Amino acid sequence: MTIYEKLQEIHDKAMKQLNSATNRDELYQMKVQYLGKTGEFTEIMKEMAKLSKEEKPVFGKKVNEVKQALEQIHDQCFERLKKNEILEQMKSEYLDLSLPSTAKGVGAAHPVYLVTEEIVQVLSRLGYSLRLGPSIESDYYNFEALNIPKNHPARDMQDTFFVDDTQVLRTHTSPIQIHALEKEELPLRILGTGPVFRCDSDISHLPNFHQIEGMCVDKKISMADLKGTISFFVREFFGSELKTRFRPSFFPFTEPSAEVDCQCPICKGAGCSLCKQTGWIEIGGAGLMNPKVLQAAKIKYPEWTGFAFGFGIERMAVIKYGIPDIRLLPENNLSFLKQF
Ligand code: PHE
Repeated sequence: MTIYEKLQEIHDKAMKQLNSATNRDELYQMKVQYLGKTGEFTEIMKEMAKLSKEEKPVFGKKVNEVKQALEQIHDQCFERLKKNEILEQMKSEYLDLSLPSTAKGVGAAHPVYLVTEEIVQVLSRLGYSLRLGPSIESDYYNFEALNIPKNHPARDMQDTFFVDDTQVLRTHTSPIQIHALEKEELPLRILGTGPVFRCDSDISHLPNFHQIEGMCVDKKISMADLKGTISFFVREFFGSELKTRFRPSFFPFTEPSAEVDCQCPICKGAGCSLCKQTGWIEIGGAGLMNPKVLQAAKIKYPEWTGFAFGFGIERMAVIKYGIPDIRLLPENNLSFLKQF
């Protein structure tokens, strides 16, 4: 084989190989194999020494041509492979901005909050607006001003969490009535809501629950106004034509006083386990404002009269949603809460 044939062979082999490289690493290895310091070109150049003086430049020129041709092919292959690699990368890292995002866990309102909101909504349509008050109350606001005398059973250690000799965790939201009577102009239609505390815990009682209560003080307020207000509220809140009834009762701060029942919203009065087959369910207490309470707050009676009513919010949630155990509400178990 002549040296020219050898050169041609290297050229053909190199061309074929360079064109078949599938990535830039492979291509680099080939470049080293042919064009590198110990590559096949360097070898053939050494053989040039054997050629005659006249032949040397002719062959030298030929070698350079082949080398240049190979370098050109190498560069073309390099560009092609680089482009392919970028395209591959773009394909694998493709980001479709039009795809919907993965859903994040969104929080929801607690049923106690939902029920509070709804009660406020319904009664705001009758002109009631919301007031809040402190969770720690003085003996005066929690009891005395509400005509609960010193020896009243509601003050018993059994029911009340005492903070110290003169302060308690409020046992009801009724002190909010007193704050409003002392500070605000008449006539008044207010709602008071928030947490209340009692040393009491069983299947239907929580030591910390929530109440909402309403108070209306105006001229010539009667039991009929109270009954109309509660009947309207029951129909709007439970969303059906449920009847309301009052049973005589006693609260020191109302006179006369009543327990408020409505027809069971679950069975609509037919009888079920929630209403213990009676068709009726107790939702709270109510009555006309006791003149002693008005007078203690320096309201002129009988020029001004009023009524008040109060509901337990957890109890309202239990009744509205048919919750089997009131203790589920403060547990904060997500699979329970997610149903609302
Ligand atoms: N404060 C009473 C209670 O906690 C409820 C109530 C409020 C009753 C307003 C009558 C009027 O039991």
